[in-house]
Amino acid sequence: MIALVIAIDVLAALVSCAVIVLNARSAVEVEMRAALANVELLVSDTIDLAQSASPSSLLQTLDLRVQGLRHVRVAVLDAADAPVATAPARRRGEHHAAPAWFAALIAPAPRQHALPIVAQGRHIGTARITTQPLDEIDEVWGYTVSLSLASLCVSLGLLGALYVAFGRVLAPLTQVAEGLTHLERHDYTVRITPPASRELAVIATRFNSVAQALAEARAANGRLNRQLLTAQDDERRRTALELHDEFGPCLFALEANAASVTRMADADAPLDRDRLRQRAQDIGSIVGQVQTLNRDLLNRLRPHALGQVPLADCLRLLQRDFGRRHPGTIFTGDFDGLGRGYGDVVDLTVFRCIQESMTNAVRHGAAPHVAVRASEEADPTAHGGTILQIAVQDDGIGVAPGHGVGLGLSGMRERVEALSGTFVLDNSVPGTVVRIMIPLDHERPEDSSAIPQA
Ligand SMILES: Nc1ncnc2c1ncn2[C@@H]1O[C@H](COP(=O)(O)OP(=O)(O)OP(=O)(O)O)[C@@H](O)[C@H]1O
Ligand SMILES: [Mg+2]
Repeated sequence: MIALVIAIDVLAALVSCAVIVLNARSAVEVEMRAALANVELLVSDTIDLAQSASPSSLLQTLDLRVQGLRHVRVAVLDAADAPVATAPARRRGEHHAAPAWFAALIAPAPRQHALPIVAQGRHIGTARITTQPLDEIDEVWGYTVSLSLASLCVSLGLLGALYVAFGRVLAPLTQVAEGLTHLERHDYTVRITPPASRELAVIATRFNSVAQALAEARAANGRLNRQLLTAQDDERRRTALELHDEFGPCLFALEANAASVTRMADADAPLDRDRLRQRAQDIGSIVGQVQTLNRDLLNRLRPHALGQVPLADCLRLLQRDFGRRHPGTIFTGDFDGLGRGYGDVVDLTVFRCIQESMTNAVRHGAAPHVAVRASEEADPTAHGGTILQIAVQDDGIGVAPGHGVGLGLSGMRERVEALSGTFVLDNSVPGTVVRIMIPLDHERPEDSSAIPQA
């Protein structure tokens, strides 16, 4: 920008010089013409006035009167064309300030005029008048030099001011460039101090928001990675706990009942058929319990019905299962708007998200009611597309401000975002609502029978 300003300055200086030269040329021309006319008048007047004097004194008087005139040189010559001697002190100095090239640019073509000097009817000499534009050119040169110096000072001042101003204005951009380099090197702690300029302050604020968002995304990624690393261990621990807490007592009870039956069979006393029947019934009910536990555990590890029965049926089973396990909560489900299936990954995502949202509603919200809605809808944003809309709403205590994010929420978000969908956890009045939107491909498999990945 400074170079551009300098270029404009130089151009302006060249144009100014051209204008000065053109103006000076015509001005000097006019001056020369006027000076020539004046001096011719002066010479004629002098000759007329000194008609009575001797020729030599007339010539000398004339020579003295015409010395030192501006813009013209008058050489007074006698009848033999020899110059008349004059006092050298009165001659104008021949030193000129304007350089030769400047004079050559401006000087008009020299004019010369020989005026005969006639006294008492006799030709006694000649006055040779020559225009002398250098005096005028010196004056123009003087103006030009002063003007150029003044313009140079103003331009230098302006350039200095621009340099400082540009430096101040552009400094924040340098900061932004440095900040971007930090981001490129994955240093998301960098922040820019917003400058005074409002436009650049917006850029700085946006930059800081982007850096903040990147830092948060990296922190979330790190958290998720750590959670994923421990997820398998957690799952194994949970399964081990379930086996220990649920299966252990059942197996112990089975063992106790079996021992009781053995004791009865070994006893000498007559067989107590009612007791035996009671033991057999106990064993039967414990086996039923174990079967339910076994089904629940397998279903938790891998919802085997998925892909084999319509998705809506799987979700109804899930809802019934929750109702059975949490008698204090009423679960309602509306899955009528769903297709048979949307492929393994989408079906499993829907299943797991609803499962986790219902678990959270009971576990964290202590909700008396949980309503689940899942349906296929026309995509309001894309022409001709369809989406899956899922909402799990509870009327529990709601999400506490500043609540943590466990594997449940982050896992749901990950699964949904991997399908280009959106996941939102919101407070509803009362309670909490989870809203999920998953866009559907046009060529989705209608009846996938493959077993989904757990
Ligand atoms: N329906 C809800 N009602 C109230 N709070 C909720 C609800 N859903 C989530 N939360 C809050 O969000 C937090 C994070 O939930 P998230 O499911 O991610 O983890 P978690 O349930 O604590 O552990 P897990 O990893 O086993 O799921 C919960 O601890 C809870 O504070
Ligand atoms: Mg959870």
